[in-house]
Amino acid sequence: MKKTFFISTPIYYTSGRLTIGHSYTTIVCDAVARYKRMRGYDVFFVTGTDEHGQKVQSKAKELNLSPKEYVDDLVSKCKNLWSLLKIDYDHFIRTTDEHHVQSVQKIFSEFIKNGDIYKAQYEGWYCTYCESFWTDTQVGEEHLCPDCGRPCHIEKEESYFFKMSKYVPQLLKYYDEHPEFIEPVARKNEMINNFIKPGLEDLCVSRTSFDWGVPVIEDPKHVVYVWIDALSNYINALGYNTLDDSLYKKFWHSDENHEVVHVVGKEITRFHCIYWPIMLIALKEPLPSKIYGHGWVLMKDGKMSKSKGNVVYPEDLIDRYGLDSLRYFSTSCINFGSDGLFTPELFTENFNNDLVNNFGNLVNRTVAMINKYCGGVIPDYEGQITPFDQPLEYACKEHLTNYEFNMDHLYISNATKEVFTLLSKGNKYIDDTQPWVLAKDPEKKKELDSVLVHLALLIKEASILLSPVLIESTPKVFTYLGVSDTSYKHILDFDTVSNKTVTKAEGLFPRLDTKIENEYIASKMKG
Ligand code: MSP
Repeated sequence: MKKTFFISTPIYYTSGRLTIGHSYTTIVCDAVARYKRMRGYDVFFVTGTDEHGQKVQSKAKELNLSPKEYVDDLVSKCKNLWSLLKIDYDHFIRTTDEHHVQSVQKIFSEFIKNGDIYKAQYEGWYCTYCESFWTDTQVGEEHLCPDCGRPCHIEKEESYFFKMSKYVPQLLKYYDEHPEFIEPVARKNEMINNFIKPGLEDLCVSRTSFDWGVPVIEDPKHVVYVWIDALSNYINALGYNTLDDSLYKKFWHSDENHEVVHVVGKEITRFHCIYWPIMLIALKEPLPSKIYGHGWVLMKDGKMSKSKGNVVYPEDLIDRYGLDSLRYFSTSCINFGSDGLFTPELFTENFNNDLVNNFGNLVNRTVAMINKYCGGVIPDYEGQITPFDQPLEYACKEHLTNYEFNMDHLYISNATKEVFTLLSKGNKYIDDTQPWVLAKDPEKKKELDSVLVHLALLIKEASILLSPVLIESTPKVFTYLGVSDTSYKHILDFDTVSNKTVTKAEGLFPRLDTKIENEYIASKMKG
């Protein structure tokens, strides 16, 4: 039986145009899902939209639309963007899907039935934008939302509350027994020290001040709090609470053969690492294997915002530089787990240094030499002939092992770095062996052949490892090399490249004129 791997992005708010910050999470998850499929896992990759809440209701009203009309338009834009980015998800869930709504109602009823939820009067600081209540200390003297910095107001309502503290011992036990549950580890300490240790308050889980949400079956003037609604998407996407829950049964386990991974931005790890596991404990359902809280894509002047005129949209970059440029930047140029900068300079310099000079150049040089010196046919492998062959073969194995370790731990930027180091070693190997010198001496034919077959194998290997990220350019490399067996199983087999007829390499990535392109991207950022 195949091992299973479930991976999810957060579900995106339907409240505006998606930026390279949103596409960042989605591209990373897509690349990891593709990697796991390549490794033979049965993968289920979920993404979707978080459509309820007061903000959506008011925005729709401003535009004279019903909330459903308003979100339908944004959902189709979101789906179009994911198709442009070639996001290969297995299911797109909308919180307005009928079965999701029904399941959220059942989940809520279950909580009431089991005494996890009770009704009481609530008064507190509320941020409409984040749909969150905050305590006096959290909003401080200026009454600002600690998450988004917007002003909060006092809101008073009769609400349902979830007894969160009841499950804290079980939650902490789970943290203890699963040291890799929350990553990076600093986020786990933040959860414990900032939220759990000070005492987890009961969570207000219903609203009566608006009605664009999932009505509580037992008390329909209340709608379910958006986070209870949104977090449930992960199991509802697998058919939880439906007649056919076979996908749920198949994928929702965490053990050595089944992984359940949520990738989320650092500002929403709290919901995923505390409330979501507690909801699952209360439902007596298994907990995820890992919550990965990644950092933000920041601009020179901080977060992206329309008012600062520093927003970058994925479409603008893809239209001009191709899909792989953005997929590469997102997975490789920001240390996954930490915040990272997007600037036009970083984007174009990384493109030129890594994709053009390192990867593209190695492919062009190698294919050109095979055409020139070997009549276009990749030579046979005869063993380690030149003094540089053995270290190169070692590097091919070493970087493969490191790549796998990093990908399996979701350290995606480290994983791609391994491959780019291997590609640099390929370029250095050409400089060391000097095939153009070997070609002048007929007695050195064996050495020359050895160099070219080693290079062909290294390029094939690197392209397989980069194929979850560079989905448009790596198939071109296989065509240039004339290689058809791109299976992971035979990744290091010289037989897969020997005797293959190469074609002409057509400049994999065009070199960017950084001055012109930096100005171009900057102009797009201003809108
Ligand atoms: N709807 C909630 C998530 C509910 S999940 C049960 C939400 N939506 S969101 O649209 O605001 O954000 C979705 C994801 O996009 C978050 O993980 C967020 O961190 C990510 N990003 C949006 N802008 C970002 C950057 N600039 N950088 C990196 N990721 C950021 O939160």
